[in-house]
Amino acid sequence: MKWEKRHIISIKDFSREEIDYVLKKSAEMEERLNHEKTSSLMKNKILANLFFEPSTRTRMSFEASMKKLGGVTIGFDSGEVSSEVKGETIVDTVKIASGYSDVIVIRHPVEGSARLASEHSDVPVINGGDGANQHPTQTLLDLYTIKKEFKKIDGLSICVVGDLKYGRTVHSLTNALENYEADLCFISPQELKMPRTIVKDLEAKGINVKESSKLNVKDCDVVYVTRIQKERFPDPQEYERVKDAFVLDIQALEGIKEDAIIMHPLPRVSEIHPEIDDTQYARYFQQAKNGIPVRMALLALVSDVDF
Ligand code: CP
Repeated sequence: MKWEKRHIISIKDFSREEIDYVLKKSAEMEERLNHEKTSSLMKNKILANLFFEPSTRTRMSFEASMKKLGGVTIGFDSGEVSSEVKGETIVDTVKIASGYSDVIVIRHPVEGSARLASEHSDVPVINGGDGANQHPTQTLLDLYTIKKEFKKIDGLSICVVGDLKYGRTVHSLTNALENYEADLCFISPQELKMPRTIVKDLEAKGINVKESSKLNVKDCDVVYVTRIQKERFPDPQEYERVKDAFVLDIQALEGIKEDAIIMHPLPRVSEIHPEIDDTQYARYFQQAKNGIPVRMALLALVSDVDF
């Protein structure tokens, strides 16, 4: 398994063996963090964070991860403060950043932009989200969270709720779940169903997939809720029609399994009522925190740093 200088663009580029290896190395990294708060594994290395779209978790957790590894970060958190506003292309921006850094994380609204960036970079490029397409590091921390809770992924019933059309986190997650033997249930408004290509790929792999437009979580081990992705709707009126399609509140949890967990990549708007936060089921804040060991492990792996 070769990791040095590897780009992390789509979860579909990774086999189950490779995904499981990242999860194992993330657990080792978390174990290290329990004993030493910081390390010098990435001393003298530079991470360039190129964020052309807003982010709280992905940008901050990559920054925190690099700093915990003893490295430093450069970059920008909006295209508005980069030379994109003067007309510079992604390709030119990435060529420049790759000359200034050892690893690049890029988030951009255009699908395929991270792949394009990787083709013009001398250093590893990590996709921090490209439009509605992929968010592979979110998926790795999602799987890490599930595995930490249940000690397995195979055999679970995973229910994905919300905007399944535009949500890149659910596209990546379900692509990854092609490699496991989980039962999947997709719950969304009719207008926001999971793309047919993803459903067909899952079915071709023999994965049991159910689809519904009714919120029912009673048979699920994992309830993975997503935000309706306002910024991706071509028609604002369409967003207004579906924005409150599902709200997971205490009432909606009726019959939920005792050991079920509720996840969300965050940010949330109104799809999970804050009254859920203090229940035994809520894992979304822990899930976001799990981004640190996972992203630390990824940074070290693509930089060929032994740990
Ligand atoms: N989950 C996630 O990608 O969050 P941010 O948009 O805040 O990075």
